[in-house]
Amino acid sequence: QSGGSGKISFRRLSKRDCKSNCKWNRILSERLECSIINLMETIIKKVENEQLNNEVIIEAGEILKRGGLVAFPTETVYGLGADALNEEAAQKIYAAKGRPSDNPLIVHITNMEDLLKITKNVSKEAFKVAEEYWPGPLTMIFEKNEKVPYGTTGGLNTVAVRMPSHEIARAVIDAGGGYIAAPSANTSGRPSPTAAEHVKDGRIDMIVDGGDVEIGVESTILDMTVTPPMILRPGAVTKEMLEDLIGEVAEDVALIDPDSKKKPKAPGMKYRHYAPKAELLIVEGKMDQVIETINRMAKEQISKGYKVGIIGTEESVASYKEGDVKSIGTREDESTIAVHLYGILREFDQDEVDYIYSESFATGGIGSAIMNRLLKAAGHHVINI
Ligand code: TXA
Ligand code: MG
Repeated sequence: QSGGSGKISFRRLSKRDCKSNCKWNRILSERLECSIINLMETIIKKVENEQLNNEVIIEAGEILKRGGLVAFPTETVYGLGADALNEEAAQKIYAAKGRPSDNPLIVHITNMEDLLKITKNVSKEAFKVAEEYWPGPLTMIFEKNEKVPYGTTGGLNTVAVRMPSHEIARAVIDAGGGYIAAPSANTSGRPSPTAAEHVKDGRIDMIVDGGDVEIGVESTILDMTVTPPMILRPGAVTKEMLEDLIGEVAEDVALIDPDSKKKPKAPGMKYRHYAPKAELLIVEGKMDQVIETINRMAKEQISKGYKVGIIGTEESVASYKEGDVKSIGTREDESTIAVHLYGILREFDQDEVDYIYSESFATGGIGSAIMNRLLKAAGHHVINI
């Protein structure tokens, strides 16, 4: 792993070397992780959906009510939860994630009555959206009332609220008192966790392991305090879906134009998120030309001794000649791409590639969430051929 003192070089490995090396790295890092976890006494418990009313949920609830931190799965990504109405507890999230304190947290609830207990002026449209898309992968922003501490909202008078559909998430939220602040359970700047193994932090009291998530990119954020309502972060609930329901919906210009000097309205969107360790380049254009260009660039870097990762799809992986080629999913169903995106970025970190070349994806439906995250991961480094 690279330390603070600049680049560390690695011996170049053959493919077979790399396979066994990766296996040992994994075993070693798993051991290391276990020992760190033991040292910090993070409790890790597996939960199956069918066994919800077990002591794991009760234990998670007790930790949350005591002001502790519990990581748990949601349908989008794993969240790192704390009691949202307990300022001190919510503050622990910032410390555990290394998160800037001006970046507000999403409050997770399980029912509409609880929404009305922490917000003001919920509009007719918001009720309509909630009726259609809650519980689900959507966050709405409302005016907050005095029950919500500023420590949870990063000093804002508004609060982001989400009602997840994942059964384990819902059980943990209820057991923890009904209002759980939960950002994605990654260290700030790393890809969001889509499996319990990605949640690694010694300062978490408990990790509820509910297996892999279903969606893989974070919820859509819709600001209901402005007219027309505005999407601050694209997700599985798309602009088209929302417009069909409530008419015009705007999009934060900072999302559409990366060169816009305007600050994104969701404070968290301004940080360079999801950055893999390698340099990531997105190649856009006609498919056969994209493949040809990626093959050429990969060959060139490999000949110089670099390790190259390639993000292709089921349809294209067979056409890549060299490098660490991974299929992210199929273009026939873009949700398969969303669910593997962060996992693939993590795998390339583990494989210690120097460069990643990725195909570009369609922007309709969940595609805009995929491209939003991929572009951020690439630092908007795209070539169009
Ligand atoms: O799918 C999700 O939403 C996941 C799961 C765990 O629920 N959570 C998540 O939280 O992605 P986080 O903290 O990683 O992202 C929350 C985003 C940040 O960009 C933050 O700035 C924005 O929501 N946000 C929160 N409250 C806001 C507010 N009052 N106004 C504007 N943006 C807000
Ligand atoms: Mg996040």
